[in-house]
Amino acid sequence: MRLAVLNGPNLNLLGQREPEIYGRTTLPEIEAMLRIDAQALGVELEWLQTNHEGELIDAVQGFPGRVQGAVINAGALTHTSLGLRDALLAVKVPFVEVHLSNLFAREEARRHSHIADLAAGFICGFGAEGYRMAFRALAGRLQ
Ligand code: DQA
Repeated sequence: MRLAVLNGPNLNLLGQREPEIYGRTTLPEIEAMLRIDAQALGVELEWLQTNHEGELIDAVQGFPGRVQGAVINAGALTHTSLGLRDALLAVKVPFVEVHLSNLFAREEARRHSHIADLAAGFICGFGAEGYRMAFRALAGRLQ
């Protein structure tokens, strides 16, 4: 089984970006943790971070035939991108939505996700650990 983990805009800045909200763990540290988990689960991991909406959409369009599922933190595109929603609707590959922060304890604009209703599950508020929870849950669901 092969799973993708997609990270949207500004997540490359984790560790230095608003650490009181997003924590001090960097994205490469999260990737390293997930690679260990993936190996333990016998799952191949495809990792992407991009600051570009189109690149995220291209990655989703490339899912069929390549990955069986995905963990997605679309960053701010969560709240704005109908294009990302349309791509996920088109490919119908199961995914878990993850956010480091608790969106529902933040500004109104962050309380709506354009993709949450399409997701197999939704995890937010657990920081970097949420990625591991999402990855393990998705692998378990698909295995
Ligand atoms: C985020 C929450 C989004 O609202 C924000 O734009 C991000 C990070 C999170 O992981 O908590 O970039 O997706």
